[in-house]
Amino acid sequence: MKTERLIADDSGIARAAELLAAGETVAIPTETVYGLAGDAHSGDAVARIYDAKGRPSFNPLIVHLPDMGAANQIAVFGPEAALLADAFWPGALTLVLPLRPDAGIASLVTAGLDTIALRVPADDTAQRLLRQFGGPVAAPSANASGRISPTSADHVLDPDGGLNGRIAAVLDAGPCPVGVESTIVGWVHGQATLLRPGGIPAEAIKAALGHALAGFVADQDAPNAPGQLTSHYAPNASLRLNATDMRDGETHITFGRPGPFSLSPNGDLTEAAAHLFDLLRRADREGKPIAVDPVPDHGLGTAINDRLRRAAAPRS
Ligand code: TXA
Ligand code: MG
Repeated sequence: MKTERLIADDSGIARAAELLAAGETVAIPTETVYGLAGDAHSGDAVARIYDAKGRPSFNPLIVHLPDMGAANQIAVFGPEAALLADAFWPGALTLVLPLRPDAGIASLVTAGLDTIALRVPADDTAQRLLRQFGGPVAAPSANASGRISPTSADHVLDPDGGLNGRIAAVLDAGPCPVGVESTIVGWVHGQATLLRPGGIPAEAIKAALGHALAGFVADQDAPNAPGQLTSHYAPNASLRLNATDMRDGETHITFGRPGPFSLSPNGDLTEAAAHLFDLLRRADREGKPIAVDPVPDHGLGTAINDRLRRAAAPRS
């Protein structure tokens, strides 16, 4: 298959919507990372997503919608879910909610679960595409399973771990401004629970709810978000975290100081999140082990450290 590269103008968005309607897979921009989109009503389209990623089929996907009205037709919102949707949608938040069984979502999307992960992205191109396509769009991150998530169209097409030749098209709207995946919140035993730290800091969600979130455990054995496999976001090189010293023969990713591989010279966590995956890819191309400065573990730093821990985890 030859992968079309589409510019995110009227005709590119129309072509992407047409490919989705034909059951094809298209990599699309969101403000967090690029997603590999397919028609969530079509089992065939969703099977193509899993196939292109080489993804284990037990791992359910996030469904993207243009607004709350569309989301309401697919899942049941409790009072806390409605409050969070109101506060953070459109944006980098995914909610795991009870699925309406009559919503017509292909069972492969949820991997047979009775819950579904929903997100209303803010990105302008994503919004226009979702409205033009007119239906729910399933989209995991547009990388080969277990590899670094893409924050640009070039990443999607990267010969190393990219999807060139495996998907119908990529819709190019430039780099993703947030740069880490959405924060995932679900209700476990009725309690709002952080299932994955991400682009909306947990502190902001707590503030909106007026109470703490139930715990996020980095290395659960039986994860609530099945994507929380230990090794994930993996570069080829090994990673040394919280590296307070410089060692010969390593590529050093810095934070709070300049350097050829600096997450943010001034120690800005928003900038660091936006640069994270691109820097991991660039550092990986040096072909040496990678060391990373300590990154503060609050705000977006929680998501950055989560992704770094997964990138450093032993490969199976
Ligand atoms: O920012 C993002 O979230 C990006 C963009 C494209 O939206 N998407 C993304 O999707 O990161 P993915 O498939 O790489 O991660 C989705 C996560 C996985 O950890 C998956 O297990 C979890 O969401 N998930 C999906 N449905 C779930 C459900 N019903 N219950 C619990 N976890 C679920
Ligand atoms: Mg992913």
